[in-house]
Amino acid sequence: MKNCRELVKLEEEIKKCTKCPLHASRKNAVPGEGNPEAIIMFIGEAPGRNEDLEGRPFVGAAGRLLTNLIENIGLRREDVYITNVVKCRPPNNRDPKPEEIKACSPYLDRQINCIAPRIIVTLGRHSTKYLLEKNGYNFRSILKIHGKIYNIKIGYIDIKLIPTLHPAAALYNPRFVKILEEDFNRIKNEIRKIGKEEEKIGLEKFF
Ligand code: URA
Ligand code: SF4
Repeated sequence: MKNCRELVKLEEEIKKCTKCPLHASRKNAVPGEGNPEAIIMFIGEAPGRNEDLEGRPFVGAAGRLLTNLIENIGLRREDVYITNVVKCRPPNNRDPKPEEIKACSPYLDRQINCIAPRIIVTLGRHSTKYLLEKNGYNFRSILKIHGKIYNIKIGYIDIKLIPTLHPAAALYNPRFVKILEEDFNRIKNEIRKIGKEEEKIGLEKFF
């Protein structure tokens, strides 16, 4: 069920949150943005410098690459919902610590419940590990599992999880850009399949 009012409330809570030490060094928390009725959510790691300054996710160089990948499969940023597993910037862009992910991830769970997407794309190791382990899968290496499709359940919602690389990793590595493009083509196919299913049951107006 889509519950947009809860999403606005969540954003307000996140902006005021002091549940982990990252609140002390942030300029702005970055709750996430996009269509509250999105059928697809993208989940990154944590805000970087530009995101911390603007309070918006994926607005730097990695964000431009993500936006291009999204547009190349026929979607717009406004169609999807984009967020991170950790909502405040770790100092010097270090990796988020397990205890920070633990403190912050209930917000992500609530966002997922609220938006109820059909597809989640995790960008990089941290969000992938979080969602796979929560669903009883082992996680080892993003390079081994990217582009695969996992059936997961968050609350009552059945979701297809498609892990891919973090776009920041591809900024200086054309081989990784190629991998991202291939994974995004799989994502496009899954969206098409869902579109066809929904047509059958008369929900085509959403597509
Ligand atoms: N990297 C991320 O993981 N998230 C952002 O929002 C920006 C860069
Ligand atoms: Fe709260 Fe998450 Fe920010 Fe930590 S990272 S202060 S848990 S919003």
